[in-house]
Amino acid sequence: MKPSDATMFMPPGASTVAAEVDLLYYFIYWVSVFFFIVITVGTLWFAIRYRRKPGETSRLTPGITHHLGLEVFWTVIPTILMFVIFVWGFRSFMHLMVIPGNAMEIKVDAKQWDWYFKYNEGIVSPNKLVVPVGKPIKLLMKSRDVIHSFYIPDYRVKWDVVPNRYSSLWFEALEPGEHDIFCTEFCGNDHSRMIARVHALTPEAYARWLKEAGGIRKGETCEEFGKRLYVENGCNACHTVDGSPSVGPSWKGIWGSLGKLADGSTVKVDENYIRESILEPEKKIVKGYKPQMSSFAGLLDDEAIGCLIEFIKAQGATSGGDGDE
Ligand code: CUA
Repeated sequence: MKPSDATMFMPPGASTVAAEVDLLYYFIYWVSVFFFIVITVGTLWFAIRYRRKPGETSRLTPGITHHLGLEVFWTVIPTILMFVIFVWGFRSFMHLMVIPGNAMEIKVDAKQWDWYFKYNEGIVSPNKLVVPVGKPIKLLMKSRDVIHSFYIPDYRVKWDVVPNRYSSLWFEALEPGEHDIFCTEFCGNDHSRMIARVHALTPEAYARWLKEAGGIRKGETCEEFGKRLYVENGCNACHTVDGSPSVGPSWKGIWGSLGKLADGSTVKVDENYIRESILEPEKKIVKGYKPQMSSFAGLLDDEAIGCLIEFIKAQGATSGGDGDE
């Protein structure tokens, strides 16, 4: 099977199911075009041929009740066409739905507004899905907040990603290459920016990638690892490290300070508070901020949380602050 170029209504086809999806699509398309022309031309022809001519006062149409041959003709033909489309579509749908037994599983976590791809080898890859070509890939997907929809146009696969339950889809990439992944369910502010990429690699290149991405720490110190987590998990979208205000409190000098909470109480910013804030962010909201962070439970393990804490410590500490601005 060969990848296909983009056509008038379809992007390039780069997966094993693309050709059959396109074929059925264009079959339905051209059948529709054919009948559109037949019906439009027929209507125009009748309208012109049987219009009331100038000077004509009464020319009644004879009372035709029915024409058996014609009625059978225009009932049987569309019925056959519908059955062809149904059987063909159902077979393709089953092909798209039934995940091959030898498929390799990758877990997908969706949250506003990122995709996380989790590999059995322990790798978590944000917004970059790396797969080997020539192997069926099963995505086991769930959402951490609202309904998203996972869509790779070039692979012709799309499925909803829903909170509190798993959904799945599968595909097999034909050739090495990069393709867009879109969220195709309106999911809030940055829905349109919830874009990721799928990188299809040769099996050799994939093995190399696994190895490189594999060791979670990649030889970094705990603080360096924490810094990478800060970027890769998008902490930096809401928490600055230079003291400037953002969606969430800046991490500059936060360590050891006494933070004022929305309910009026204070809390010391220590290991337990940060750990709790990562896992159950809505529990203690800092005064002046909104509870908009989603939990990282299941995404960050103890080692990762420990190293994020190291990174936060490295942003400077306040000792014995009273929490008042
Ligand atoms: Cu996620 Cu739209």
